[in-house]
Amino acid sequence: MTPYFSLITPSLPPRPTLRGEHACDVLVIGGGICGILTARLLHDRGLDVTLVEAERLLSGQTRGTTAKVTAQHGLFAAKLEKSAGKKHAQMVVQANLEAVRALGELARAAGADAAFESVPSFLYTLDCPQALEEEADACARLGLPVTMTRKLGAPILPAAALRLDHQAQMNPLAVLGAVAEPLRVFEHSRVLALDGLRVQTAQGSVRAERIIVCTHYPMLPLTGGYFLRLYQQRAYVLALRTDERVEGALYGVGAGGYSLRSARGAVLLGGESHRCGDARAARGAYARLRCAADQLFPGTKELARWSAQDCITPDGIPYVGAYSPRLPGVYVATGFGKWGMTGSMAAAQILADALTGHQSPVAAAFSPQRAVGASAAGALLRQAGHACAGLGSCALPPLLASESLAPGEGAIVRDGLQKRAAYRDEDGTLHTCSPYCTHLHCQLTFNAAERTWDCPCHGSRFDVDGHLLCGPAQREQAVAAQKKSDGSPSP
Ligand code: FES
Repeated sequence: MTPYFSLITPSLPPRPTLRGEHACDVLVIGGGICGILTARLLHDRGLDVTLVEAERLLSGQTRGTTAKVTAQHGLFAAKLEKSAGKKHAQMVVQANLEAVRALGELARAAGADAAFESVPSFLYTLDCPQALEEEADACARLGLPVTMTRKLGAPILPAAALRLDHQAQMNPLAVLGAVAEPLRVFEHSRVLALDGLRVQTAQGSVRAERIIVCTHYPMLPLTGGYFLRLYQQRAYVLALRTDERVEGALYGVGAGGYSLRSARGAVLLGGESHRCGDARAARGAYARLRCAADQLFPGTKELARWSAQDCITPDGIPYVGAYSPRLPGVYVATGFGKWGMTGSMAAAQILADALTGHQSPVAAAFSPQRAVGASAAGALLRQAGHACAGLGSCALPPLLASESLAPGEGAIVRDGLQKRAAYRDEDGTLHTCSPYCTHLHCQLTFNAAERTWDCPCHGSRFDVDGHLLCGPAQREQAVAAQKKSDGSPSP
C-alpha cells in the first residue's frame, strides 16, 4: 500500500545516522513536513539547526497526504468562530492564508516550483447547501474571500460549493525533499530519551539551546497532557488513472462528499475517514471508496491505494508553542487535522519567530496552553471518554479462540489465561502479538482494511507481528513466533 507520491518521486539520498556527541542552537525532532519547514526557516535565519528522524525523511504521514495547500479547511469557519472566538479565528485564517503564500515562495526558492501548482480550492456539498451558506457568512467575517458557485472542475454536480482562489496543490515529496536539501539531518536516529535540553539516540546524543518536537503526535507520553486532548483520524485514498482532470483541490462535506485532486497522470480520491481504532468503520473502507470511484470515473484503473492519519484537536486549531511549562526551552507543533500543508507552514513561521526573538501576531491563537471554549470542551470530554473506553476494554475477557479465525481475520483471542492479538493470513499462518498498546496500554483493535492493529485511544498502529507502524507509541512490541494453522511454527 505505497502512496502515489512515493511511486512517482525519486527516493531522497540517505542521510547519516547520529553517532557521538553533538551540539547545536536548535534540535528539531521529526523529519516530516513540519520538522523540515521549521528547520529550514530557522536555518535561513542563521541558526545552527540539526534535525533527527527515527526512520527516513518523509517516510511517515507526509507521504500519505493528498497535499492540498489551502486556507479553506473543510467546513471550519463557523465552527472555529464558535469554539475559539472571532479574534482567534481571524488569526488562524490569516496565518493559513500567509502559509499558502510562504510555502509557494519557499518551493520556488528551493527550485521545486514545478512540483507546486497554483489552483483554486473548493468546498462542496451534495446535500446540505444551508451549511455552506452559513460557512460563507462566517468566512466573510473572518476574512477568507470565498465565493459561492455550483461549478466544479470534476464530474460532480454539487448542491452548493465555496471557491477560494490562489490556493495550491503540490507533490509533497518533491517540494520538501528540495527544501530539506541544505539541512543537517540524521536518519534512523530515534530519540530514546529527552533530559532537559539533551536528547539521547541509540548511538549518539545532541545538546541544544532549544528543542522542537515535530513528531506528528507528541512523543512524550504524559507531559503536557496531549494524550487527553489529541486523537487521530484515519482516511483512505485511491490514485486512479483517468483522462479526466480534476481542476482544483476539492473537499466534499456531507453524504457522498469526497476529497479530490489531480496529480501527475492520476486523480486522487480520498475519504471514508474515521477515528483510528474504530474497527467497524475501517471494515470495507477501500471497497466503499472504490465504489465511489466507479461512479465518478467509470472503468478507471487503480494505480495505488493507501491510508494516512491526522491528529485532531478539540477546537480545530493546532498546538504550536511551548511544549509544557515543565519543559523550558522545548516546543511542540502538532494537531493539524487534515490540513498539514498549511498548518505546518503556519507552525514553522510561528516557531521561527518565537526562536529568533519576534513574537508572531498570531501565536496566541495556537498556544498549546490556551483555554478551550465551551463547545470545544465537549470534544475534549469525548476524547477522554474514548481513552477510558480503550483502557476499560482491557478488562473484558476475549470470547474467541484463535482456531476460530478464518484466513484474513483478526481478533483478540484467548491464549490460556491470557489474551493475544491474533491474525490468520491467507496462507493459514497465525500471527500473534500483545493486544496492548505500548503507549499507555489501551487494548488494540483489528483494522481489516489495512490488516493492522490500531489503538482506539490515541492512534498508535502495529503490524500483525507487533512491529510499530506509527506513534505516539515509541516502542515495538515483543514479537511472537508465527504458527501455521496446524500449530507448527512457520518457517
Ligand atoms: Fe495511547 Fe495507544 S496510542 S494508548
